[in-house]
Amino acid sequence: MTIAISTARTAPRRATALGVPVATSGPVPRAVGLSRAVLAKVGFEGKNGQLHAVTRPDGSQVMALGVGEAGRLTDAVLRTASATFARAAAKHEHVAVALGDLDGVDARRAGQAVAEGVVLGAYRFVAYKRDKARSAITAVTLVAEERRHRGLQAGATRGLAVAEAVCLARDLDNTPPLDLTARALAERAVEIAGSTGLDVEVWDEHRLAEERCGGLLAVNRGSVEPPRLVRLTYSPRNPRGTVALVGKGIMFDSGGLSLKPSDSMLTMKLDMSGAAAVLAVMSVLPVVRPAVKVVGYLCCTDNMPGGDAQKLADVITYRNGTTVEVMNTDAEGRLVLADALILAAEQGVDAIVDIATLTGACMSALGLRIAGLMGNHDGWTAQVRTAAEAADEQVWPLPLPAFYRKLLDSEIADLKNIGGPYGGALTAGLFLKEFVGDIPWAHLDIAGPMRSDADDGWIAKGATAFGVRTFVELIERYGAPGSPAGSR
Ligand code: BES
Ligand code: MN
Ligand code: ZN
Repeated sequence: MTIAISTARTAPRRATALGVPVATSGPVPRAVGLSRAVLAKVGFEGKNGQLHAVTRPDGSQVMALGVGEAGRLTDAVLRTASATFARAAAKHEHVAVALGDLDGVDARRAGQAVAEGVVLGAYRFVAYKRDKARSAITAVTLVAEERRHRGLQAGATRGLAVAEAVCLARDLDNTPPLDLTARALAERAVEIAGSTGLDVEVWDEHRLAEERCGGLLAVNRGSVEPPRLVRLTYSPRNPRGTVALVGKGIMFDSGGLSLKPSDSMLTMKLDMSGAAAVLAVMSVLPVVRPAVKVVGYLCCTDNMPGGDAQKLADVITYRNGTTVEVMNTDAEGRLVLADALILAAEQGVDAIVDIATLTGACMSALGLRIAGLMGNHDGWTAQVRTAAEAADEQVWPLPLPAFYRKLLDSEIADLKNIGGPYGGALTAGLFLKEFVGDIPWAHLDIAGPMRSDADDGWIAKGATAFGVRTFVELIERYGAPGSPAGSR
């Protein structure tokens, strides 16, 4: 889907749907054509996410878009309103959004938010549908005072690129595991690297064995599909620093011999959402052009219970010599992430952040909309939090208490891969922490927000591609993490 965004002082005639932000108080913009009293009668109060459409005799539509309290407009509110608008206006080819004086929102941020909202709201995964009815929207005009046009246009261009990246990740996530194997994802990564100008290296099963990537190899044993480790690199001139992004790419998580019950497996094609998010972020860096070097690792394999599957109580040896006793083959994400964390740490990056659909426990703790944020460095996790806020993606800090580390003690190895029935998100985080050395590291557990059962603002039913926009913000805003503040 390609959408063109332009700016104008008044809505063009070709735009057959006009979205007009309306707050809960204050005057209703004239373009709506209805008074507040009339809007109230049809149940429209201007609350965030509300929409009321009026169809004119010529078939064109004006839609009042609720944006909440007057004077409290933010880019997040605009993104949500634009997504709701795009869904309601999906039959129109050319639409316009009346932004007025922007109510104090920075024009660039506003342009970006509207572009993201429209594209993400219009998103549908139709690859496997007979009826490939997609949104008809191909053009959006942002209507605002002329002095805002440059900022709006610049923001919109960036927003379109970022939203396309989010859609790429959603498409990959939503693709059935039969069609998106580790090999297929690695091939896509190579294609994308070629077309965007990133460096890429793919390690196959032979290379992984040479490099002693014990985690990917162990998890992959039960599968007839080979594993892949992909490393993508974005290298600008004079970078402020180097950041590693690490994504969990379990193409399908059956649990392995610690087999999941059928219902729990239903959404496990999405267990590669972390890897897809990293690939998507990497794909847009050459457009956004941050002055930060970024290395993206995708840890790809499925987790299957085949005849040669890893067994319970098997011991994995990692390339740095660390040994792990596998007490539950369903705790596989941490096993494959460890390989990439070791490599990133070895490479000597300034900071690491991983993203993983890691634990049901995190989903129980924080629900379906909020990702768990952990790390070994308060300054770096604070940067992730700030980036998530800017992206309007919800994250919440969880602790990595040192006194829980003993839950991972193994009888015969350095560590075991589960920490008992309680605090599962934290023990998973503590496991990962073992592999990053002293490097500032943050961990996002996206098991909850990886998918949504319903369309909701910029979130579409199915894969959400949570984390893509947070990571783009994180890289752009990157500042060298100060001295380690330590973990609690
Ligand atoms: N991929 C799952 C976690 C998950 C569950 C993500 C539900 C999204 C929705 C992960 O590999 C897993 O199976 N974790 C286990 C860990 C346990 C065995 C320690 C879990 O959470 O039950
Ligand atoms: Mn699992
Ligand atoms: Zn998993």
